[in-house]
Amino acid sequence: MNKVIGKPINRVDGKLKVTGGARYTADMPVENLTYGVLIESTIAKGKITKLETTAAETAPGVLAVITHRNVPKFNQITFFPGGQSLPILQDENIYYQGQHIGIVVAKTLEQAQYAATLVKVEYQTEQPTIDIDEALQQGYDPERIFLGMLPAHSLRGDITSGHSQAEILVEKTYSTPMENHNPIEPSATTAVWEDDRLTLYETTQGVCSAQEAMAKVFDIPPENIRVISEFLGGGFGCKAFVWSHAILATLAARYVKHPVKLVLTRAQMYTSVGYRAPTRQHLTLGATKDGKLRLIKHIGETITSPFDEFTEPVAMATNMMYSCPNVDTNYRLGRINAGTPTFMRAPGEAPGMFALESAMDELSYALELDPIELRVRNHADVDPATGHPWSSKSLKECYQRGAEIFGWKHRNPKPGSMSDGESLIGWGMASATFPANSFPATAKVTIYNSGEILVESATHDLGTGTYTVMTQVTAEVLGVSVEKVEFKLGDTKLSKAPLTGNSTTASSVGTAVQAAAMKARSKVVEMAISDSDSPLYQAKPEEVIFESGKLLLKNNPVVGESYQEILTRHSLENIEAVGDNVSKQQQQEYAKYSFGATFVEVRVDRLLGEVRVTRCVGVYGAGRILNAKTARSQMIGGITWGIGMALMEHTVMSPHYGRILNHNLSDYLIPVQLDVPDIQVQFVEEEDPYVNALGTKGIGELSIVGVAAAIANAVYHATGKRIRDLPITPDKLLE
Ligand code: MOS
Repeated sequence: MNKVIGKPINRVDGKLKVTGGARYTADMPVENLTYGVLIESTIAKGKITKLETTAAETAPGVLAVITHRNVPKFNQITFFPGGQSLPILQDENIYYQGQHIGIVVAKTLEQAQYAATLVKVEYQTEQPTIDIDEALQQGYDPERIFLGMLPAHSLRGDITSGHSQAEILVEKTYSTPMENHNPIEPSATTAVWEDDRLTLYETTQGVCSAQEAMAKVFDIPPENIRVISEFLGGGFGCKAFVWSHAILATLAARYVKHPVKLVLTRAQMYTSVGYRAPTRQHLTLGATKDGKLRLIKHIGETITSPFDEFTEPVAMATNMMYSCPNVDTNYRLGRINAGTPTFMRAPGEAPGMFALESAMDELSYALELDPIELRVRNHADVDPATGHPWSSKSLKECYQRGAEIFGWKHRNPKPGSMSDGESLIGWGMASATFPANSFPATAKVTIYNSGEILVESATHDLGTGTYTVMTQVTAEVLGVSVEKVEFKLGDTKLSKAPLTGNSTTASSVGTAVQAAAMKARSKVVEMAISDSDSPLYQAKPEEVIFESGKLLLKNNPVVGESYQEILTRHSLENIEAVGDNVSKQQQQEYAKYSFGATFVEVRVDRLLGEVRVTRCVGVYGAGRILNAKTARSQMIGGITWGIGMALMEHTVMSPHYGRILNHNLSDYLIPVQLDVPDIQVQFVEEEDPYVNALGTKGIGELSIVGVAAAIANAVYHATGKRIRDLPITPDKLLE
């Protein structure tokens, strides 16, 4: 059998990427291109009182300077359901530093950059709210979270009775800082108008949703808009939505009647495309002396912008992670003078599980119980939030196998018990979880009489391996080699697909691709078995198998013929089929999640307080793995993010002016090669017949979850110091 799914094949787009053949948004060649440069507010709150644009307008090469004074009419779109509009050139009001207050378009980039410096703005400045505590004092409890899909307050059982049953209580506050997305490829837009038709080259995780959004903004039918995004250098959530720079570039292109290209600078990435909101999380765990949880209370305090609502959903995992009868989770939101936060790599779970899994470690010490044993004693055998059975769950195996590989049994739980010269050594672990969702997707498969296969879906490859795994799914279903298959994505002309986010693409689009390929091959089977010239004449469809590019008789696999032969004999150039992932409603409802466990070793310099992660093991149960190599890369990437989250990442805003002080990659630290140890990744074999027809669960975001807690727990084990405030920088350990 030529099984292709699961094989660690190389990226099918790898060669294009290393030879420069992969064209990212800003690389797309467009004729008569002009260049847009943003004008940004230099204050965080107040009003524009004077705006002098004449010098810029008359500077060499300048085609237009667009501000709120002369902006052509367009529709404001609601950014998040329930939220308000993005304030794009509406009036003179300023809500945050870096707010886009205009765009300069010129014939060259340098001319546009120069002209932008000539725009003189005066402001009436008000004192901005930057401090989180101050914002929270005037805060409110949001009603819904997660794009309005979930109620903010969730309660099961009875917290008072939980308190009275608990013999041991851990009651702590954990905090995580503001963090920014730093994909290698900054966001870019090139807008090309031809009359009322728009072609948009856009760095986006959602060509179809960008098409819909732009249709609303410019009041034209969606079919007049084509959005193209063939390659992405990372997305991580910051390319999920249409942000104001994309709208400005597009309206500028219509205004100057030339294509306009706008590429955000690295600094602008910190103020233009969202960020992960800072959190304060008040967590209470109550347990009996035998280590059974009786009470969990998790209050997530976080912030949003002055004009829109986004709540970092930190307590989602708390509701389903452990078996506990009394669980209360809720949120509080304050407004600071910053842009609106957005999804960032495991939104909710990443900061939320830092708090929960740190608190579980604290509870294990209070109970004098091994942290793995504590988790096993509170293992949720069914989803405690809904009572539904899990579609599959291998968490106990993840603990077991991870502990074995790591050598956990040699751990002396006493803090400070291991050292090597000036280094204190600590071992820590934490659980991981992420929902295994799917969104409606479609795909089209075309089999040509040359034997070539084309597969199309308007999905995206964020660098995750979509091109590769979709090729594998198609090759397996049709029984052809991967070289015969070409997968096209990132274009609204293709079969409709959802936003690439929430780690759902392999599941959603993969299932649609599988369905389309099965339909296409069935069509060819029907042609063969009803054709007296075919060696398969009068066979039953279920007797036909697909191997080596051929349709063969299962019982006698020397009898059969190729796709080419069948199509050619029928004088068909190709046959095509469209598939989707809309499956029949299951009788029984299942809770669908991936799970995992991370184990880390840290070395902490006794005198300098510097923390190095020296070993890391991650074991996951995430359904069917489509490509062992790209999947492993995903997990290594997530763990690396986790190391950054634990030890480095931290956006700093100046307390008085609300400016981001470290908006570059030399001051905003993320892990580099030397910060990352050898990471061992394993997947537990998991067959999940319920999650979707392909049996896949999301993996991209799973592996960041819990890593910061595992590191904080290891730091405690090394030093006896419990750091509840990320990132764990040397100053906190030397206090
Ligand atoms: Mo997802 S927040 O788009 O990495």
